[in-house]
Order: sequence, then C-alpha cells, then structure tokens
Amino acid sequence: MAYEKLFEEGRIGSMTIKNRGVMMPMATDMADKDGLPTPRQIRYYQERAKGGLGMIINEYTGVDDIDSIPSIHNLRAARDYHISALEELTDAVHLYGCKIVAQIHHGGATSNPAFTGRDNLAPSAVPIADGRPVPKEMTLEDIKRIKDKFLAAAVRCKKAGYDAVELHGAHGYLIAQFFSKYYNRRTDEYGGNVENRCRFVAEIIEGIRRELGPKYPILLRMCGDEMTPVDGFLSLEEGLEIAKHLESLGIDAINISNGSARNGDANCEPFSYQPGWKKHVAKAYKEALSIPVIATNTIKDPDFAEQLLEEGVCDFVGLGRSQLADPEFMNKAKAGTPELIRKCIGCLYCRERVLGGGLPIRCAVNPRTAREIEFPLLHKSGQGKQVAVVGGGPAGMQAAITLAERGYKPILFEKEEELGGTLNIADKPPLKDKITRFKESMEAQLAALGVEVHLEAEVTPETIKTACPDAAGVIVACGAAPLIPPIDGIAEGMENGFVVTAEDVITGKAVVREGQKAAVIGSGLTGLETAEFLLSNGRKLDIIEMLPALGPGVFPAILNDEMSRIKPYDPGLFPGHKLTAIHAPAENEPGYITVEETATGESLDLSADVIILAMGIVPRTELVQAFKEAFGNVYVAGDASQGGRIATATRQGFEAAYTFKA
Ligand SMILES: Cc1cc2nc3c(=O)[nH]c(=O)nc-3n(C[C@H](O)[C@H](O)[C@H](O)COP(=O)(O)O)c2cc1C
Ligand code: SF4
Repeated sequence: MAYEKLFEEGRIGSMTIKNRGVMMPMATDMADKDGLPTPRQIRYYQERAKGGLGMIINEYTGVDDIDSIPSIHNLRAARDYHISALEELTDAVHLYGCKIVAQIHHGGATSNPAFTGRDNLAPSAVPIADGRPVPKEMTLEDIKRIKDKFLAAAVRCKKAGYDAVELHGAHGYLIAQFFSKYYNRRTDEYGGNVENRCRFVAEIIEGIRRELGPKYPILLRMCGDEMTPVDGFLSLEEGLEIAKHLESLGIDAINISNGSARNGDANCEPFSYQPGWKKHVAKAYKEALSIPVIATNTIKDPDFAEQLLEEGVCDFVGLGRSQLADPEFMNKAKAGTPELIRKCIGCLYCRERVLGGGLPIRCAVNPRTAREIEFPLLHKSGQGKQVAVVGGGPAGMQAAITLAERGYKPILFEKEEELGGTLNIADKPPLKDKITRFKESMEAQLAALGVEVHLEAEVTPETIKTACPDAAGVIVACGAAPLIPPIDGIAEGMENGFVVTAEDVITGKAVVREGQKAAVIGSGLTGLETAEFLLSNGRKLDIIEMLPALGPGVFPAILNDEMSRIKPYDPGLFPGHKLTAIHAPAENEPGYITVEETATGESLDLSADVIILAMGIVPRTELVQAFKEAFGNVYVAGDASQGGRIATATRQGFEAAYTFKA
C-alpha cells in the first residue's frame, strides 16, 4: 500500500487510532455566542472525519467564560449546558471511526478585557506583548480556581464523548505563560525552576487523573522552541527539559508546535517557509521522549507526511491547513491519488479571517470549507448538458470542476497556452511555488473528471457559439485587466515601453535591464512581489504608495514576511505619495516621475528608467456584456465579476457552478 507508515494503526495511552493523520486544533470562530457548537461547525468537523483522519484535535475550547474569552465565537466546555451540544460534535466525528480530542484552553494574559470586563489573569503582571493590557498576577486562590475549571472542563469533555483532552500549553496561553521564564516571574512554588513552572499543569494533570482515572488519555500541546529572540522565551533546550518533566508526570502524548505569542509565524507560517524547515525541533523531542510525539511541519501532501514518519521526526503527523484546503487528504492518499489533493498555498487567508477579523474560518483554495452545511452534497442534475466556461484561471477551473461534479459537460476555453490565468503570474515571484502546486492539483482534478479543455482559444461570443453549439449556458470567468490610471504621460509611456504593468514584468514580457532603475507604483501584494523579484535580481527601485502605509490590504503576517526580504535591498520607500506625472526619457535626458506627498502636497521628482504599474485591476466588463447579449444564460465569476484574490475567484467559480441552472 502507498503511504504505509501514514496508514499504520497507532496508540496514545489506552486509545487506538486507525492511522497517523491527526487534524490540528484550529479556531474556527463558528461557535454561538454562548460557546456552543453550531450545526455548521459540527458539519465542518464531520466532513474532515469522513475524509479519513485517524484523530481530530478540535479547536481551542474554553474552560472558562469569566476570566478568559479569546473571541466572541470560541468553543467552550465551561458550563454543564455545553455537554449535550459537544456530544453532538463527538457523535458526528465518531460516525466515521475517527477519534476526537478537545483542546482545553485558558488564555490568561492573552484574553480580552473588552469581552470579559475584567483584568486578564496571568502568573505575573507581564503584558503578553507591548501595548497589551497589564494582567493581574494570580493569587493562590486564582490558581486553584482556574485549575478547578480545567478539571471540570475535562470531566465535561469525557461526558460529551471525547476520547481524550489536550491541555493547550502552546502559543503563549496561560499554561505556556507558567512555563515561561519571561511571563512567569513568581517567587512562590509556581515560579522559578522547571518543576515549579510546571506545577500549575502538574496539578491539573493530577486532578484529571483523579477525576477520570488513569486510562483517560491526556495530551499536551507545547511549543518545542518559541523561536523568539527575547530573554526568557523558551529555547529548544529548555523546552526539552519541560517536556521530560511532563512525561514523568504521566501525560500520554505531546503535540509539538513552535513560536510564541510574539512569533505566530513559527507556528502558522506564511507561504515563503519551506516544508520541513522546523522538523529538527520535533525530531529532538521524539529522540528525547518515549511517549508519542505529534507534530506539525507545514505538511501540504502525503509524500512529505510519510517522509517525516520514515525519518522518525514524529509518531503522528499534525495536519492543520492542509485539512482546510482538502478534507479528503487522507482518503485521496489512501486511494493512491495524491495529485488530486488540493494543496494549501500558505496565503494565511484562514488566519486573517479568524485571528485578524473575528470571522468564521474559510480557505482560499476550498470554497466549501466551513460552508459544508450551506453546500451539502452536490445535486447531480446536469444530465450531461454542455456548459461553456470562458477563462481557465482559478474561477474558471473551479467552475468547470464543480459543473462536472454536478453531471454537466463543461467545456473550458483559455486564451493562453496553459491553464492557470492569474495563478501563472502569482507563482512567478520568489518562493511562490505552492501556487504552482495548487494549480497542478486543479488541472489533475479537471483531467480526472474528463473535462474538455481548449487552450489558445479565441474567446468571443461568436467563437464559443461555434465551438459549443449546444451550450445550455456560459460561465464567464475571463479575468480582469490591469488598472491604468489617467495620468499625464502614461499612454505615451506605455507605447514606447517606458511604462509597463507588474504582470508584464513578472511574466517576462517586459524587462528591467541591468543598471536600470525602476519605480513600482502601488504596494499591494503584486507590487511588493514584483519589487522583490527585481531587487533579488540586482535591480534598483523605488516603491510608491498613495496610502499612508505600504501593503494596504495585505495581512500583516504576509506583509512583514515580504518586507523582511525587501528591506535588506534598501529600496526607496514612499508611502503617502501619489504619482502625478510621468516624464519619458528624452534625448540625453533620463526619465523620471513626479510624486506628491499626500499629507503636505509637496512634489518630488524621482529618476526612473522603467515605471511599473501595480495599481489593481478592472473587470473586463465589455467582454462580459458581449457574452450576456449573445447567450441567455450567463453567470459571471472571478476577476471578471469582482477583482480580488484567489479566495474570491475559487468561491465565485464554485458558487456560479453550484447554482447553475440549464
Ligand atoms: C485559523 C487557525 C486557527 C488556529 N487555532 C489554533 C488553536 O485553536 N489551537 C492551537 O493549538 N493551534 C491553532 N492553530 C495552529 C495550528 O494548530 C497549526 O499549528 C498551524 O496551522 C501549523 O500547522 P499547518 O502548517 O499544518 O497548518 C491555528 C491555525 C490556524 C490557521
Ligand atoms: S486559506 Fe490559504 S493558508 Fe489557509 S488553508 Fe487555505 S490555502 Fe492554506
């Protein structure tokens, strides 16, 4: 069998797990305002259990709703009325032979006084990050009270049918604050040496054992290395010391993450981190401990999961975002069709929604994630009817896949020589190969579904009518064109190649030659990636942004990651500056642009040999209109409808095909 190790049965304490694939806890923000799981949340987990996982560790689940409320919609096991609702969740997962573990959690200093109306509690009065509220140092009474809440929550979880509990001791939450020399500055028996800093969790473990017996498995998640260059944060060496102590206290398994409250990227990385970059951490724990080690490692496909198990990095592979991107990850691996697994691109849209926006989790590459209840089984009503799909970008490919799954006969037309559309631009900048793999998984799905694809096709209403005479309708996903602002000198500049688009630079249609200086106008992700591409090839440039800060609309973790690669090249950075004029090079006169500082109105000239426009896109409305006039039944999706990101494109392609009616 393919993936022998991945599909080997495993054990954690008294619990047998059918394989080594474990879904990692991921906050979904889908519970109701009382912390009860909602039907769509239950359906979301059930879909993943059905996808073949051995075990699910569900999202952090609050033990407390007085001193710790991390978000309005976080799941809780804080009251007895949570038990029956949580049982619905565990029942739904157990239906598919999948184990389920509750990750029980207290935020401590990370909590939010705006939700609790109280000071945060913490081992010491140390704010979790600069500018965050100073918490109240816990008294011995507070410690006992919160410990009892962990015990009561564990008892509720067992009653609700959970196979085990995981104590959340990672990512800077309360248990991790006790582990930390930085956050825990106590001088009593809960602070100081490792044994003392572990006392809080040791008493919780002892209490759970007392209440639930020696056989009920207790897991603990911790950061193997906090990777935070501040004195007192956990290093790998100190983490190992703590883990060995925890093992001696009788935990059944350890779940190794990385990072801290000040370094979320070491836990949940942006796209630029390569799979396996942190595997030395888990391996060190595996070598030092006898209990099973579960670990995340930026796993995007089963080959890498198998490799980690073979290399002895861990006993169970932690699957986080790859489960958002494709809940069928395990089933497809088992069936020997890993190429059909939709691959996570590391864009952090999921993290942006939950942790940045307080919105329910979603995934950029999987439009059904967390919407399984809205889009249940596909209604197969297509009866083989022909549907023309115009445009082979992410929206068009998704539409064709969904139409085929619904029993239609989609015919996909793409004007370029390969499928991918904007993905073929997005995957060119440095470190963006995950986008290529996502595109390849869509191509594999199209092929497996037998979708007819026409490349280098002229896409006008007339050509489509000729090629697809029986079309019951058309989904137009013909993309968008770069926005060209009405600025003096721009038309002339575009004619003589002085002004080009970011798309042209990335695809190699326009070149900035050695020794030339460029000006990149616009600092959205496309502008920044174009700048990085040129800088890493030794070109000099300025980045101009009209808004006060660079990277408008770019999620801070992605922006910081991008800027950490751009800044060392020392480009000119001009946030808060508007392009007002373009001056093409004249005889013996170099070219330049004029920009105006928006706050003061002051003008500035900047030399430039090439001007690169990265100012956004505009839908191709004329083409869309022409299709609407030529065909009665037209659906519009992706950039052709609303310019945006991959998430918008896949979602609109899916929704158009899901709702398509002949
Ligand atoms: C949206 C989101 C929410 C998360 N919430 C939690 C959580 O509740 N508890 C936790 O321990 N880790 C949480 N994580 C971290 C994941 O468990 C995991 O460590 C991380 O995504 C890296 O694994 P991956 O590369 O397989 O995605 C979250 C991650 C994401 C993307
Ligand atoms: S939203 Fe982006 S990072 Fe998150 S799971 Fe989906 S593809 Fe991966």
